[in-house]
Amino acid sequence: MYEDRRLRIVVVGSGYVGTTMAASFADLGHQVTAVDIDEDVVEALHAGDAPIHEPGLADLIERHAGGNLEASTAYDSLAGADLVYLAVQTPTDEAGNIDTTALETAARMSGEAIADQPPAERPVIVIKSTVTPPHVETIRAAAAAGAGDETLEVAMNPEFLREGSAVSDFREPDKLVFGTSSQRGDDMLTAAFEPIIEATNPVVIRTDPDTAAMIKYANNAFLAAKISLINDLGNICKEFGIDAYEVADAIGADDRIGEQFLRSGVGWGGSCFPKDVRAIIQAATAAGYRPAVLEAAVAVNAEQPARMLELLDEHVDVEDQRVAVLGLAFKPGTDDVRNSRAIPLIEGLQERGANVVAYDPVASEEMQARIPEIEYAKSAARALDGAVGALIVTAWDEFETLDDAFDAMDRQLVVDGRRVIEPRPGMTYEGLTW
Ligand code: UGA
Repeated sequence: MYEDRRLRIVVVGSGYVGTTMAASFADLGHQVTAVDIDEDVVEALHAGDAPIHEPGLADLIERHAGGNLEASTAYDSLAGADLVYLAVQTPTDEAGNIDTTALETAARMSGEAIADQPPAERPVIVIKSTVTPPHVETIRAAAAAGAGDETLEVAMNPEFLREGSAVSDFREPDKLVFGTSSQRGDDMLTAAFEPIIEATNPVVIRTDPDTAAMIKYANNAFLAAKISLINDLGNICKEFGIDAYEVADAIGADDRIGEQFLRSGVGWGGSCFPKDVRAIIQAATAAGYRPAVLEAAVAVNAEQPARMLELLDEHVDVEDQRVAVLGLAFKPGTDDVRNSRAIPLIEGLQERGANVVAYDPVASEEMQARIPEIEYAKSAARALDGAVGALIVTAWDEFETLDDAFDAMDRQLVVDGRRVIEPRPGMTYEGLTW
């Protein structure tokens, strides 16, 4: 039975990936300790609270805190572990290079914490953080130096979770990627995911750590470029008066293209696509290759908010006028505003001298911390009240049924960046790519 294969897993770093993974592994029956230097995060986990907003996560933490799921600020909990996951954040600098300083420190400290154990009993260290292939060696070397053991297994197990559905994505992955350099590393990762492999039979890719790191970047770069390509084609459609969604439906029926990630509009945001695409461009350029398609994907994405504002400009001069921004989260289902397309849109409206009033069902507070000077409305209807124009930026379901709320606008002008609403009689409606 699976109980026999219960592992001791330590997850270093309790950000969004680390916490989801720690709680989910605990739910699979493993004994998990989440290690983080932030005492508030550790206390929250002890108390059974989720430090981030992610559907289903609070339930898991509440259920397993104090049982299968423990939390600590100390690295000594690594002693006796089978697997040590490094899920520390890797921030980016201005140019887009990832900064692995914190991850290297975590790797070295993890190595030091297990240095006294006999080599054969040391845990397998697994990099979960997204790092470019050249950085895999940096992290491996830091962990090996800490342990004083050049044979230490440092594996790579990249993450494909989406914000907003991370818990269910963990349970039902399309694929698992095990990048290891020894049979023991592979056995350990297989044991960790055994219940999932048995239950949902995902594709399991067994490879080396560098290739595993590249698969993660290729996955995100491909999806981001796919959206930018449909946006590029969508912009052409708009010029020709053609509906890009009709075109997307048709080409998505071709199995070679696939129907997902063909929603054109104001572009991609979040903590992953923008960061990862830039990081792989930087790493490739440093290695002597400039990836032209990925550079173009970034350029198209940067241009979409400006195109939305141009559509608004065609109908109204917004100076000293009230303009509503509906949706602040980078996508529905999350309060995350990192790289949200709402940011360049609000800035563009501010440059035009507009009085911006923003609304989001969950992300207003997050945006207010970044852009405090605009007005935040308590409902979409209030944001629309008296506005001469509205920009729809996030595809929240509740925007689909606003109907009469548009009547309160001074001028019923809507520029939709996500194809959320149906135009109403009397409304001037501009779709970004349709
Ligand atoms: C993305 C990947 O989908 C995950 O597989 C990956 O694990 C994650 O990054 C990561 O590296 O951690 P996420 O950023 O949560 O996940 O969000 P997505 O659902 O992929 O959406 C990203 C952005 O693309 C959003 O701004 C969304 O609005 C936009 N998008 C998505 C479109 O504009 N059109 C589409 O058709 C789909």
